[in-house]
Amino acid sequence: MSEVTVVGLGPMGSTMAETFLTAGHQVKVWNRTASKAEPLVAKGAGRAATAADGDLLVVSQISYEAMYNSLGDARLDGKVVVNLSSDSPERLRAAARWVSERGGTLVTGGIMVPPPGIGQPGAYTFYSGPKDVLDRHAATLEALSEITYVGEDEGLAMMYYQAQLLIFWSSLTSHMHAMAMLRTAGVSPLEFLPFVRETFTQLGGDGPMGYAKILAEEVAAGTYPGEQNSLHMQAVGMGHVVEALEEAGVETTVPRALQALFERADAEGRGHEGLGTVIESISKP
Ligand SMILES: NC(=O)c1ccc[n+]([C@@H]2O[C@H](COP(=O)([O-])OP(=O)(O)OC[C@H]3O[C@@H](n4cnc5c(N)ncnc54)[C@H](OP(=O)(O)O)[C@@H]3O)[C@@H](O)[C@H]2O)c1
Repeated sequence: MSEVTVVGLGPMGSTMAETFLTAGHQVKVWNRTASKAEPLVAKGAGRAATAADGDLLVVSQISYEAMYNSLGDARLDGKVVVNLSSDSPERLRAAARWVSERGGTLVTGGIMVPPPGIGQPGAYTFYSGPKDVLDRHAATLEALSEITYVGEDEGLAMMYYQAQLLIFWSSLTSHMHAMAMLRTAGVSPLEFLPFVRETFTQLGGDGPMGYAKILAEEVAAGTYPGEQNSLHMQAVGMGHVVEALEEAGVETTVPRALQALFERADAEGRGHEGLGTVIESISKP
């Protein structure tokens, strides 16, 4: 079993430390607010003297700025820093240079589950950076989740992570708009739930509503057939969605933004194409 130091003991880092302990690893923990280490020390973790105390540092903090604050001016010679915090891809690339200047190596990651999912079946983490270094620590990191390596560019793990979060947050915010509208008519969220589940399932499937796959294939090919459901028809339909929300007296910022995007693609002369043509407007802001 190997040694690992967990830096950052919020809900994620604490669960990671506990998961490493359960997997039989020798775990040290460090947190800015030292008292958060107590429950983990009670379960068998050691207290790291500093955030840089260890050869494998697994970091989970609010942002990369917190890593700079925590490591300070410590040398990192021969150390591997695996940072699973959220930030922008450019900041991850800058952090890789920062760690390298101090003698260490940064592996970046975006973990795709909340705390209860860590170490559970179905959990996965997008990793990027030097593959040989990741491979050396794969046996330890696999305690947290499946390893999904996406490439050398240290920013890439975060791009994949943020791509997934964008889909997660935007689709769930639409779900909230839908629930808010329906409840003004006395429809409870639980009455509506079976239909929402059906939509999420169908969007990921292979049938006529399998739009995740349909759009990916269209965007890959750069062609957006719209004979049977044109973007123009959908831009008008999206306008009706906004009107329905307004009639119900609920907030409409995000639906209006969708309407504006669809209408722009239509106004750019691609209304006869399919929904996928909207990506051409997204790509040219
Ligand atoms: N929670 C989730 O469901 C989830 C899922 C996937 C990924 N993530 C990502 O995982 C990371 C950790 O998330 P989290 O939910 O555990 O909690 P969080 O609130 O994002 O981070 C808390 C940790 O950051 C530390 N921290 C904040 N500012 C700091 C600073 N200036 N210097 C040093 N340390 C600082 C906190 O230390 P103190 O205790 O001293 O305040 C604490 O250890 C985030 O980047 C988050 O986006 C979260």
